[in-house]
Amino acid sequence: MAESFPVHRTCPFAPPPEYEGWRDQAPLVRGETSRGEVWLVTRHAEAQQILAGTGFSTDPRTPGHPSAPDTATMTPEEIAAAHQLSVGFFIDHDPPEHTRFRRLLISEFTVRRVREMRPGIQRLADELLDDMTAKGDEGELVEAYGLALPSLVICRLLGVPYADHDFFQSRTRMMVDAGADERARRSATYEIRSYLADLVTDVVAAPEDDLLGRLATGGKLTAEELTGVAFLLLVAGHETTANMIPLSAYTLLRNPDQLAALRENPGGWPAAVEELLRYHSIVDWVAFDRVAVEDQEIGGQLVRKGEGVYVLGASANRDERAFERPDDFDVQRGARHHVAFGYGVHQCLGQNLARAELEIALRTLFERLPGLRVTATEEELGLKYGKAIFGLTRMPVAW
Ligand code: HEM
Repeated sequence: MAESFPVHRTCPFAPPPEYEGWRDQAPLVRGETSRGEVWLVTRHAEAQQILAGTGFSTDPRTPGHPSAPDTATMTPEEIAAAHQLSVGFFIDHDPPEHTRFRRLLISEFTVRRVREMRPGIQRLADELLDDMTAKGDEGELVEAYGLALPSLVICRLLGVPYADHDFFQSRTRMMVDAGADERARRSATYEIRSYLADLVTDVVAAPEDDLLGRLATGGKLTAEELTGVAFLLLVAGHETTANMIPLSAYTLLRNPDQLAALRENPGGWPAAVEELLRYHSIVDWVAFDRVAVEDQEIGGQLVRKGEGVYVLGASANRDERAFERPDDFDVQRGARHHVAFGYGVHQCLGQNLARAELEIALRTLFERLPGLRVTATEEELGLKYGKAIFGLTRMPVAW
C-alpha cells in the first residue's frame, strides 16, 4: 500500500516521524500524492545513486515528472508563460543544456572566489549586529540577521538593489510555499522574473565587472537566459541560508556544551556547519523531484521509465547505514558526505558561499553576543512544519 505523502515534521530537531519506519522498510517505498503515485527514496546510498545517475530527469516537462505543471487547469497563455519562466532556470534542465549554464557559472562560486568574498560577508554580519544592538538589548533574529545577511550578500553579487528586499523576499516565500494556491505561486514567480528582466536590460546596456556583467559580455547567454540565471541565484541564494541561520543558532543554544566547545575552538566551526546542514536537511525532498527516463533497478526495485521519484534528503541524512548515531547532534562529526546540498550534476552551485555565510553568521553572532538567549517559547517561534523549506518564522532574543 502506498504511503500518504507529503508528511510533516513535528519537532524542530527531527525529520517527519514516518521517515524512520519507511527507511527500515525499504530503500524505495511507494508514496501517494495529490498528483498520483511516486517512489520515495529513503536511504543514503540510493539517494546518491539517483541524484548522480543519468537515468533520471529533473526537467518538469519530462513526461511523468512529479512537479509537471498541471496543464489541464491552465489556459494556453499560462502554459506559454510557464514555459518562458523556465528559460535559464537551469536547476530544472538536464544535461547537455544544464551543463552549458553550469560551465559558465562554476568559476563564480569556487572556494577561492568565496574566500575573496569573506571579508565583505564579515563586514555585513558586523554591521547588522551593530544595528541590532544599537536598538537595545532585545531583538528579532530572523528578519534582522538570518534573512538580512544572505539577502544582502546575493544582492551585492547580482547588483540587485537591497532596498527592494521586501518585494523579492515575500515573492520568494510565496513561490516556495507548498501549501499556497498554484496560481498565486506562478504569479509571484512571474513578478520576480519581470523585475529581474528590467535589471538585465540595464546590465546588457552597460555591463560592469560583476557576475551578471561578466555573463552578459561573454555573449553566450541571451537576455532571457540571463534573467533566468539571475532569478535562480536570487531565489536559491537567500531563502535556504536565511532559514538555516536562525535554526542553527537555536540548535546551538539548545546544546550549550557543544556551543561552549566551539567558542573555545573556533577552528571547529566548519565541521559544525556541516553537521547543522546534515542534521536539519531543511530542503529535504523539495529540490529532489525526478522522473525515470529509462527502466532501471535501484536498491533491488524496478523503477520504470516515466515513474516519478522524490529523494527524501532528510531521511538519507539520518540513515544509520551512512552515519553513526544519526539522530545525535554532534558538531565534531565532520560528515561531509551528507546530501543537504544534493549530489551529482545539480549539487548546490552556491555551497561554498552558503558554508561561508553560515560559518561567519554563527561565529560572529556568538562571539559578539555571548549572553544570547531566546525569549519566546518553542510554539512562538512559528516553526515551518508544513512548508517546503524548514526553518523558524521568528526568533525573539535578548543578549
Ligand atoms: C544552506 C544553504 C543552501 C542549501 C541547503 C542549498 C541546497 C541546495 C540543493 C539541495 C540543491 C540541489 C537541487 C537538485 O538536486 O536539484 C541546490 C542547488 C542549487 N543551489 Fe543551493 N543551497 C543553499 C544555498 C545556496 C546559495 C547561497 C546559492 C547561490 C548563491 C545557491 C544556488 C544554487 C543553485 C544555482 C543550484 C542549482 C544547481 C544546478 O542545478 O546545477 N544555493 N541547492
